[in-house]
Amino acid sequence: FLSSSSLPQAREQFVYSDDESADVDWDNLGFGLVPTDYMYIMKCAKEGNFEQGQLNRYGKVELSPSAGVLNYGQGLFEGIKACRKEDGRLLLFRPDQNAIRMKIGAERMCMPSPSVDQFVDAVKQTVLANKRWVPPPGKGSLYVRPLLMGSGPVLGLAPSPEHTFLVYASPVCNYFKEGFAPLNLYVEDEFDRASPGGTGGVKAISNYAPVLKAQIRAKNRGFSDVLYLDTVNKRYVEEVSCCNIFIVKGNMIATPATNGTILAGVTRRSIIEIAGDHGYQVEERRVAVDELMDADEVFCTGTAVGVASVGSITYHNTKVEFRTGAKTVSAELYSDLVGIQKGLSEDKKGWIVEI
Ligand code: COI
Repeated sequence: FLSSSSLPQAREQFVYSDDESADVDWDNLGFGLVPTDYMYIMKCAKEGNFEQGQLNRYGKVELSPSAGVLNYGQGLFEGIKACRKEDGRLLLFRPDQNAIRMKIGAERMCMPSPSVDQFVDAVKQTVLANKRWVPPPGKGSLYVRPLLMGSGPVLGLAPSPEHTFLVYASPVCNYFKEGFAPLNLYVEDEFDRASPGGTGGVKAISNYAPVLKAQIRAKNRGFSDVLYLDTVNKRYVEEVSCCNIFIVKGNMIATPATNGTILAGVTRRSIIEIAGDHGYQVEERRVAVDELMDADEVFCTGTAVGVASVGSITYHNTKVEFRTGAKTVSAELYSDLVGIQKGLSEDKKGWIVEI
């Protein structure tokens, strides 16, 4: 499966000086791929368990042309961020939650999955091996991308006879080109993202390419991204192409319930908990597009996106603007979340895994 060179067997073989830093323009990081040094690979033969994985030099992977992932989209991905603290320590945010989500997704996609311990260990090893690519404090984070794919050959439609778990990483900063500026979203009324009974609730790779057409069209019209409606009624808000959505009205914060078409975001769940701690009335339920357009404030959450404030939403040629800026609910919640993620505030919830 893999053609690669110099395969170190254990993390002890990696020796880095703390002041070694990759040659990156840290002030101009966006969310583009910056290839790093190592990736982690672990395989599972049919009906078996995942074997001992290993770090490999980052590089191309070799797949059978009839691999399940290439032919039938049998694959899942995850996203996790590692931050560097001022004192040099490296922090992961709730990687066990990503491991659990991958397990649930794997069950839906008829794939074996790594155990939570295997997953978290692979993520840790990948971050450590690429330590020099973790941005300095305040300059971004190392985005870790675990993939689970049907790597064995199939021709007729069937689960792949072999699966591969691969983890790579890239330093990143802001996801949207807007940076921290509020997003302008377009409510999509032609294309759908996910339908009931489908795979919208898991992080299947096949959920993402189909959103590109609507996303590109909206971007060409000057919008930041697209917000999807439910496929049945075309009335209830679902999620943005790459993140979950929240509305704020007075003391109430609402977000679409995870009913099978909404991705159970780790940032979404964390913000729900933080908002509850702040005394907001948090509701996970259906949110009608009319209610969205009448909100005081709207914001998006996701690992890549963080917490992004929405400045306007356009639906059926009507554009509505929302409260933005430092005094918003999203700014208040984001500051709490980031404080924990960056190790600036006490981790009372046990969300941080130090590497
Ligand atoms: C993430 O937020 O980590 C995601 O996986 C979304 C992706 C489209 C960048």
